[in-house]
Amino acid sequence: MSATAARVLLATCAEVPDGDDDEQAAIDALRADGIDAQPSVWDDPDVDWAATDLVVVRSTWDYTLRREEFLDWARSVPRLANPAAVLAWNTDKTYLRQLADAGLPVVPTSWFQPGDEVDDLAPDVVVKPTISAGAKDTRRHRAGSSARAHAEQLLNAGRAVMVQPYIDAVDTVGETGLVWLGDRFSHAFRKGALLAAGADATADLYALEEIGAREPSRAEMATGERVLDALAELAPAGRADLLYARVDLVPDPSGVPVLLELELTEPSLWFAADPSAVARWVAAVKGWLARS
Ligand SMILES: Nc1ncnc2c1ncn2[C@@H]1O[C@H](COP(=O)(O)OP(=O)(O)O)[C@@H](O)[C@H]1O
Ligand SMILES: [Mg+2]
Repeated sequence: MSATAARVLLATCAEVPDGDDDEQAAIDALRADGIDAQPSVWDDPDVDWAATDLVVVRSTWDYTLRREEFLDWARSVPRLANPAAVLAWNTDKTYLRQLADAGLPVVPTSWFQPGDEVDDLAPDVVVKPTISAGAKDTRRHRAGSSARAHAEQLLNAGRAVMVQPYIDAVDTVGETGLVWLGDRFSHAFRKGALLAAGADATADLYALEEIGAREPSRAEMATGERVLDALAELAPAGRADLLYARVDLVPDPSGVPVLLELELTEPSLWFAADPSAVARWVAAVKGWLARS
């Protein structure tokens, strides 16, 4: 590697210090293009985050119970993608409420703060903390009583909670993930259902996901574009300031795509779902390096 090679760190967590398969593909492709790319653990005190041309947040999935520490770290990194202000906005799923209030199609959601009373919840709902990743502490409940008990347990632990109807089409059609790299749409993938009714939340860092290729529909693409366009008004940065974005959609009961999650923090990008995607990743990183 020449002395002038750009140095890029991909931030991961201690549980997966080399990143996952996705990150390995991302690192290999950058290295093949002459970029000095390395995985680094975000809370490792020995890493010099300033001595890099770019730090890319990738598999930092262990921040959910210490989000402030994670955001302090993000603010301390001079050249970070996505930017720290975007991470602060995106690591709490209450951003979905802002998007819904702005008229975007979002899975219907009830919101609870610690101290709120939880009345009886409907049967067949999903209960999750608003600060969550990898389906951790997220469960589907057939009975309203167990949903309420789960919500109260999270609220008593000081965590804000969101409750959604279980979207049945997740079991058949699946979730559609739309990935933008730089300012360009890159590829889509299908994700199978993760929440078996009544099952415990995953005890691991993240729930295992079943991924396949997907040709997005026109309606899905249009919704994804609308969500990203809305960021200019609602988020601390517009879509042109993002290195990566993932829009996760599910069909509502009438088949209309609605937003389940907008991942601007640490989305798996599922390069394996489209063999040409990794080249667009390298181009996006090089574009970012050229402008900063
Ligand atoms: N309302 C819902 N209906 C059906 N499945 C859901 C619902 N909410 C979450 N899930 C399932 O749980 C997974 C994780 O939830 P998600 O909202 O994407 O949060 P995160 O990926 O940050 O943990 C989803 O990929 C999906 O399989
Ligand atoms: Mg998700």
